[in-house]
Amino acid sequence: MLVRGLKRLFLPVASFLLLTFVVATYFGSSRGAGWSLRGGLGSLPFDRDSSSGRDVSQTHHEVFSVSRADKKFFTIKFGELEATNPSIIPHPSLNDTWIITAQHMSRGAVKDTVWFAELVCNAAFNKNGQLECLSPPMNMPIAATIGDRTKCTGELAFFALNIGPHDARVFYGPRFPLTIYGSNSMFTCFGQWVLDFRMLMDWGYEHFFQNEFRTPTEIQRPSAYGAIEKNWFMFWDLNGQMYAHYDVAPKRVFAKLEYNGSVGQDLAPLAAAQDSKCMQKYMPSVGPKLESIHQATNSLAVTLCNRSDPKCKPDENNTFVLTIFQHKSFHAFHSVYEPYAMLFRQSAPFEVYGISSKPIWIHGRGKEGQGKKPPGLTPEEVQTWNQTEMFYITSISWKTHGQKYHGYSDDVLFISFGIEDETTAGIDVLASDLLQGLGLCSIA
Ligand SMILES: *[C@@H]1O[C@H](CO)[C@@H](O)[C@H](O)[C@H]1NC(C)=O
Ligand SMILES: *[C@@H]1O[C@H](CO)[C@@H](O)[C@H](O)[C@H]1NC(C)=O
Ligand SMILES: *[C@@H]1O[C@H](CO)[C@@H](O)[C@H](O)[C@H]1NC(C)=O
Ligand SMILES: *[C@@H]1O[C@H](CO)[C@@H](O)[C@H](O)[C@H]1NC(C)=O
Repeated sequence: MLVRGLKRLFLPVASFLLLTFVVATYFGSSRGAGWSLRGGLGSLPFDRDSSSGRDVSQTHHEVFSVSRADKKFFTIKFGELEATNPSIIPHPSLNDTWIITAQHMSRGAVKDTVWFAELVCNAAFNKNGQLECLSPPMNMPIAATIGDRTKCTGELAFFALNIGPHDARVFYGPRFPLTIYGSNSMFTCFGQWVLDFRMLMDWGYEHFFQNEFRTPTEIQRPSAYGAIEKNWFMFWDLNGQMYAHYDVAPKRVFAKLEYNGSVGQDLAPLAAAQDSKCMQKYMPSVGPKLESIHQATNSLAVTLCNRSDPKCKPDENNTFVLTIFQHKSFHAFHSVYEPYAMLFRQSAPFEVYGISSKPIWIHGRGKEGQGKKPPGLTPEEVQTWNQTEMFYITSISWKTHGQKYHGYSDDVLFISFGIEDETTAGIDVLASDLLQGLGLCSIA
């Protein structure tokens, strides 16, 4: 439906541009990720002043930075390069250093570009409070994949021409860091691939197993594929067995994952009886048009008591898998994403434990009317424009060096996100703050 709406808008534009727009619509946050028309159409300036505007506490659960005096988010800088879809993980050996990654946005420097790359660098907080590369970012050496061209049909035929990775997420598993990214697929038009992240930068030597994602591996899917798959995440149970989670809505889909990319059957039906009441109560309702619910981030495991409390011991009743999903709307050609935290059990059948009862508001986000106005609004539309700023959450990690997959309520999380497809940013928040106001399934 979305594609048809866009088509109507851009019928006068050359078909190549139409296709690029369609492609960009499918990828990443929205129209960003490289194939953007905005450069050609120009953009309107916008101001952000989060002190004005409606009180968000009525509609949202607001989270605040634990480290900044102004309690707001910080921006992430990849040298002079523009980037989108950021991730942050603690550096394995350098103190006060984090590894930051994002999709490079080349802004049409080359005509008809079909080439994509992911950036990576070691980064630290500069005196302006930005998390900034310590030396120029480099392209991650992720090879382009050769997919099955015949799976990209109709208006998606153009996807077969893609070269390189899209919208990588970088995250720690229980033992080592990984990346999942979109690339040309053997099973559908565009699939999701996984790779040991230590292959992609100077990580330092660490023990590894040759069969554990040292080569790019396409993750398979237990149920019907979409033409363009994205936002899949991995999770691990209490025994360290890994799984892939494909969808949270309209229903969950997840399965056991092997290192060769093969998967078992969809396990969601085993949790569906418990999940359905809870999801009915807490999942946001989706409008009939231009709205949807998407998975957004990788997962972490969190034990819901304090690390500082000697009585706090992780077990099957207090430890859950955390992920963030988003309610996307795309009215009047501007995307807005409302994020929600979700916890599900870390042992079979992995039933949902709780969902944010209100969407999360990152302190500093532009309120009503402060979103970036899309080009081409009529004067009347500009007058009544009241959308909020588009914050698109892409990844979560623990801030502290040495912490990988698991943490506690009093540990600090990094939440990484893109702003209006122009800026990359992050915020450090207490896990317990993010999870405050969680609607529990036990009382659904
Ligand atoms: C990093 O900090 C820890 C704790 O303060 C310290 O034990 C360690 O030696 C430091 N490592 C480096 C490489 O500076
Ligand atoms: C993938 O790995 C699983 C588990 O080790 C194994 O059962 C299966 O045969 C493998 N598939 C292929 C195609 O190698
Ligand atoms: C978790 O809760 C269940 C049900 O109340 C109980 O049977 C089990 O012993 C608990 N497990 C632990 C480790 O406390
Ligand atoms: C857990 O830690 C947080 C943050 O340090 C603190 O505010 C809270 O009171 C602690 N909770 C308990 C139950 O000790």
